[in-house]
Order: sequence, then structure tokens, then C-alpha cells
Amino acid sequence: MEFRHLGRSGLLVSEISYGNWITHGSQVEEEAANECVKAALDEGITTFDTADVYAGTRAEEVLGRALKGLRRESLEIFTKVYWPTGPGPNNRGLSRKHITESINGSLRRLQTDYVDLYQAHRFDYTTPLEETLKTFDDLVRQGKVLYVGVSEWTADQIAQALKIADDMGFDRIVSNQPQYNAIWRVIETEIVPLSEEEGVSQIVWSPIAQGVLTGKYLPGQAVPAGSRATDETGAKMIDRFMNDDVLTRVQELKPIAADLGLSMAQLAIAWVLQNPNVASAIVGASRPEQVRDNVKAAGVKLDAAVLKQIDDVLGPIIERDPAKTVSPATRP
Ligand SMILES: NC(=O)c1ccc[n+]([C@@H]2O[C@H](COP(=O)([O-])OP(=O)(O)OC[C@H]3O[C@@H](n4cnc5c(N)ncnc54)[C@H](OP(=O)(O)O)[C@@H]3O)[C@@H](O)[C@H]2O)c1
Repeated sequence: MEFRHLGRSGLLVSEISYGNWITHGSQVEEEAANECVKAALDEGITTFDTADVYAGTRAEEVLGRALKGLRRESLEIFTKVYWPTGPGPNNRGLSRKHITESINGSLRRLQTDYVDLYQAHRFDYTTPLEETLKTFDDLVRQGKVLYVGVSEWTADQIAQALKIADDMGFDRIVSNQPQYNAIWRVIETEIVPLSEEEGVSQIVWSPIAQGVLTGKYLPGQAVPAGSRATDETGAKMIDRFMNDDVLTRVQELKPIAADLGLSMAQLAIAWVLQNPNVASAIVGASRPEQVRDNVKAAGVKLDAAVLKQIDDVLGPIIERDPAKTVSPATRP
């Protein structure tokens, strides 16, 4: 495993991290979840990403049990706050009240005294940004959170947060967690240049487009048994990539991966890691063999000719519009 700094901070994260959205507490049984976590640890992954909202808070519990008993100092545990964790109007968003209650719930479920990175899962237009950032800063001072970051914030929102932090002497955000893969490149024009200048890393989600970039979904054919596309929640999430144009073009990546001696998943993960602003690719897995396949993308270099071949194949299906980075206008 190789490690990269998280933004302009002293924290090192594994280039490939393990995330448990849709899987733990939901699509996969606890035994499979434990096997995936074990495979991740065996392969040198030290960074684990979850969120309070995943599987209605059960995902944090499953991860907490799977990591229990390990040396806490050997792990980086990331979680998030924003999406609803209860029925009430204050059980969501980035208010002082919800953040304070949510971190306490996350720490209890994860069975740890602190998380290494605490992330605002979206931008909350209904809470003053100063209130959110002051609360985050308080959590850092209380030792419940070591670093703070955001997820799916626009370049403007990240810039505003950094300015407030600098003016008020708050802890600065060190990371953004956007969707990023060879098809979905919306961070490249605005977010990445700002982040490079400001010492903010991307820790990216869906680096293999939820499994689509493995090439296992064939155009015009039934989806493979047990895959995310067969899961009720998963099917809705993966739908954005499930059309014949995308699936046909993805098949054309197979010879490129084969020439390099890489699996399709390794090619997709290596692709996001070529961007030096990416500190880590967060991969999900429903089976341990997937983790063992994916982890081999660490340290792989792709030359300019290969990157051009990939661009030529995916061409018209590549999404680059920065306006696709959005948070709900009102609290969800
Ligand atoms: N911040 C946010 O808003 C946000 C949003 C989404 C995700 N995330 C984070 O990012 C993490 C990763 O997202 P993701 O799960 O969408 O990422 P992904 O790595 O693109 O997709 C993971 C899924 O692809 C399939 N897969 C993985 N490796 C494979 C392989 N080698 N061969 C074949 N299939 C393979 C598995 O699904 P099946 O086996 O079921 O097909 C697996 O669950 C999440 O767990 C979460 O931590 C964050």
C-alpha cells in the first residue's frame, strides 16, 4: 500500500480506502462485511470511510464491530454528518445541535473516542456557515475529531469555508469527498485547481462507478446475480450509468486494461489516483476477493498515451459540467 497526505496536513491516508455505503448493514450480511474489512486490513488499507446515515446508522455499528480490538493508532476512521438520522427537523443538516448529537452517536456506534476525519456530507443552505465551522472547530478542541472536511461542496463553498476559517482562526478543512471516476469528472475544472492552491485533497467516491467500470454489466443483458444493480437501494443509485451507450463504451476499455496486465477495476482506480490532488480512492466491496483485486491499483502509473486511449473510448459519455456538484436547496 502507498500513502498520501490528506490535504496540507500531517495525516497520511492509504491511497485506497474502504467504504461501507450500501453494503454494511444493508446489501451484505455481517459475515461478508467482516470478511471484506479483514481483507482490506490484510492488504494494507488503513483508512475506512462511513457515514451516520448509511443503512439508517447500522453501517457505523457494523464497521465499529469489525474494527473492534485493533490498535486504534493503526487506523484512520472517517465519518460524516448532514443527511437525516431521525424523523425530526433537527435530526439533519449542519446545525450546532445536530452536529453535536450526531458525532456522539457516531463515536458510540464506531466504539471509538475520536474520528480522524469528520465530513460535512453536503452543504447546508439553512445554517450559517460560521455556526457549522465553529462547531467543527469545537469538536477538534474537544478531541472528538482530528481533522475536518466536506463532501460534494462546490469550489465557491469550499473557498467561503476557508476564508471564514482563516478570518476566525478555526481549523481549516483538509479534504473534499466528491464523486470522481473516468466517466464523472465534474471536479476537474473548478474544485481541483482551488483545492491544489489551498491544500485541500479529494478523497473520491465511486472510483469504479459503483461497479460499472469493471465491465461486468453487459449492454442489453441481465445484470449479474448478487451485484449492486440487483439491490433495491443500489439499483436506484447505479441507474445513472446503466444505459447501453455507457455499458458499450466501458466494454471497449477491456483491451486497454488487458494490455497493461490490469483488471478493469484496477484500471479504473489507478485512473483516479493519477490525479495528484486525489489523496485516496474510496472503494466499496461486497466480497473480499473484490478488495484483493482493487488494492493492486495502488502505486500503478498510467502514461499519457493510455490516458488518451481512455479519453478516446469514453469521449461523449464523460461528464465534466461543474454545475453537477449540488447540495439540496433545503434540508432533506
Ligand atoms: N460522500 C458521498 O456522498 C458518498 C456517496 C457514495 C459513496 N461514498 C463513499 O465511497 C465509497 C465507495 O463508493 P461506491 O461503493 O459507490 O464505490 P465503487 O468502488 O465505485 O463501487 C463499489 C461496488 O462495486 C462492486 N465492485 C467493487 N470491486 C469490484 C471488483 N473488483 N469487481 C467487480 N465488482 C466490484 C461492488 O458491488 P457489487 O459486488 O454489489 O456489484 C462494490 O460494492 C462508499 O462506501 C462511501 O464510503 C460517499
